Amino acid sequence: MSRLQHFGWFLARGFGPHGWGHPYLDWNYRWTEPTLYQDAVRALEQAGFDLLIIEDAPSLGSAETIDLRVRQAFGGPKLDPLLLAPYLFAATRHLGVAPTVNPAAYLPYTAARQFATLQHLSGNRLGLNVVTDTGSARHFGAAPPLGHDAAYDRAEEWLGGIRDLWRSWPDDALIADPARGRYADGTRLEAVRHRGEHFAFDGPLNFVPFTDGEPVIVSPGGSGRGLGFAGHNSDIQLALAPLDESSIRAYRAKIHDAARAAGRRPEDVKVLFAIQPVLVSSPEEADRLVAASAHPDEATLRQIAERQSSDLETDLTALDLDAPLDTAVFGEHVSHGSIRRLVGAHAPDATLREILTAHARLGRLSDGSGFVGTAGELADRIEELGTWGNDGVLLWGDLHPVTVHRMLDELVPILRRRGILRAEYADGGLRANLRSF
Ligand SMILES: Cc1cc2nc3c(=O)[nH]c(=O)nc-3n(C[C@H](O)[C@H](O)[C@H](O)COP(=O)(O)O)c2cc1C
Repeated sequence: MSRLQHFGWFLARGFGPHGWGHPYLDWNYRWTEPTLYQDAVRALEQAGFDLLIIEDAPSLGSAETIDLRVRQAFGGPKLDPLLLAPYLFAATRHLGVAPTVNPAAYLPYTAARQFATLQHLSGNRLGLNVVTDTGSARHFGAAPPLGHDAAYDRAEEWLGGIRDLWRSWPDDALIADPARGRYADGTRLEAVRHRGEHFAFDGPLNFVPFTDGEPVIVSPGGSGRGLGFAGHNSDIQLALAPLDESSIRAYRAKIHDAARAAGRRPEDVKVLFAIQPVLVSSPEEADRLVAASAHPDEATLRQIAERQSSDLETDLTALDLDAPLDTAVFGEHVSHGSIRRLVGAHAPDATLREILTAHARLGRLSDGSGFVGTAGELADRIEELGTWGNDGVLLWGDLHPVTVHRMLDELVPILRRRGILRAEYADGGLRANLRSF
């Protein structure tokens, strides 16, 4: 039987050039102006989505490889998504907005106050996608970057400090009673004196208490430490996993164990699985696209090489496509996991052409081999996820109107008819919507 699920949109490549490199670019939108994003969030709200999450990385990467990241706008430029959020709140009434935030970039007192302000101004619709991107460290001070787990420790201390500040006003501190002529009772405020490993600050926070809960915490890390962070802190976990029953159940079980270990209830963390579908108008068109993808043209291979060059900060476009890929080109700055993801199951003497061709290959939604299909086929997959207890789905893309409408125009009515997508929002903002089923 169908069950309601939560829907999010992940604005991949963040607050940056949208449509760049696509034939649909020339719609006279400017990515540095809010209209493109405001039009999109109105559509997402009309569709019944819970929230938009905006990817971010504050850094353009290392000095030697900046050109790889910017020349096709894969890794930058980007503006700060936290400052886009108010424009999106102003254009909507129910949709949650979760900019990505890096604990290295904001001191806790400033962060607590800015996030609290947005939570109030938005009617309780702020989310925060907390990431531990250590590649940005040099922009925030001269200290060397933290290791993987230490960056999570810092994020935990940061968020704990922010929450202490938010809680520095107990319920009875705010009086606001004209009859008594008293606005607040300052003697009730918690002083908050934080002296931690990474941060030192005093409170209390200069703000007023929340009316419908704290901002929603989102997290994407899938390592053991990342899941531990989510178990302690998150309301939403963004999950990347194969969409078969055992993978979905296993991922959910890990998050639920982490929540229990932190003394929380499993249902306190909603897991949204990321999907990047390619929707077409008929099964025949989907078959054609999948068949063609087995023989990508040079332009397609070049585009994949550009994207990988940006992500891996290594220029693959300068290499001979028909020579075996020597993984020594990656030097020390690329993780083994990232190299494995690029090379996949290929033999060590595989050529770059063979490796990139495998990345070009698409599969069908209908048989679970990939994500090309009709809106009806995508709805079938999402419905199936629901039968395995899934909480929700994160659709992945830019916010160009062509992308948004291609994804949603047919899909939304089908999901609504099947009772999978909400038709109404709860009162009380993002947290209330997450709790409404
Ligand atoms: C769906 C998804 C979204 C992510 N978004 C961001 C992001 O916006 N910025 C960022 O720096 N990292 C992002 N990440 C990367 C994670 O923050 C994290 O660095 C990565 O998953 C490695 O952490 P882990 O070792 O705990 O898995 C994202 C990961 C996933 C799966």
